[in-house]
Amino acid sequence: MQTLVADHPLVAHKLTALRDVNTETPTFRRLADELVTLLAYEATRYIKVEPVSVTTPVAEATGVRLSRPAPLVVPVLRAGIGMLDGMIRLLPTADVGFVGLARDEESLVAATYANRLPANLAGRDVFVLDPMLATGGTLETVITMLSQRDAASVTAVCLLAAPEGIDRIKATFPGDEPLPVRVVTAAMDERLNERGYIVPGLGDAGDRLFGEI
Ligand code: URA
Repeated sequence: MQTLVADHPLVAHKLTALRDVNTETPTFRRLADELVTLLAYEATRYIKVEPVSVTTPVAEATGVRLSRPAPLVVPVLRAGIGMLDGMIRLLPTADVGFVGLARDEESLVAATYANRLPANLAGRDVFVLDPMLATGGTLETVITMLSQRDAASVTAVCLLAAPEGIDRIKATFPGDEPLPVRVVTAAMDERLNERGYIVPGLGDAGDRLFGEI
């Protein structure tokens, strides 16, 4: 399992504004969208391409195009929906699947309440969108679902990660079997608090994107 913390001044600038408790929902949504597009650039670094030739107005050129089958983007409901536009801006030909998990605020255990994923993901690279990699329970469940469908690889795109969550994913998916796993995040924060929130974090990402429920 590989972890990449995007080291870029624009990422750090946008993340700082996102963390600010005074940043209101419209600005939070816009910043999250922009940040995901920057992270998507890193997350797609190893996407499979195949050679093609193209005729320019001047001559023949060789280039590449994304290989088939198309990648799959999976936002984790509800907060991951706030990352979808930013991701498919760079991957407009991707298919989109959905997984809904809600965590019990007492036990912090996540239960699946929605699953709209293709039954067979053989050969497909999958990009999971979940803003907060906290305990890692949700991501572990989603990667397991994707692995059972034979996904070729999983790259999780997270705005923030906690060391506890990274350690858990690393322990469950240490190598390239059953599938290679990468996490791309804008920052690695200090720790989780007793309520499972990332510290210093940015609070509840779903509430900040879509309002409190
Ligand atoms: N989910 C959130 O929205 N925020 C956290 O800090 C942890 C999990």
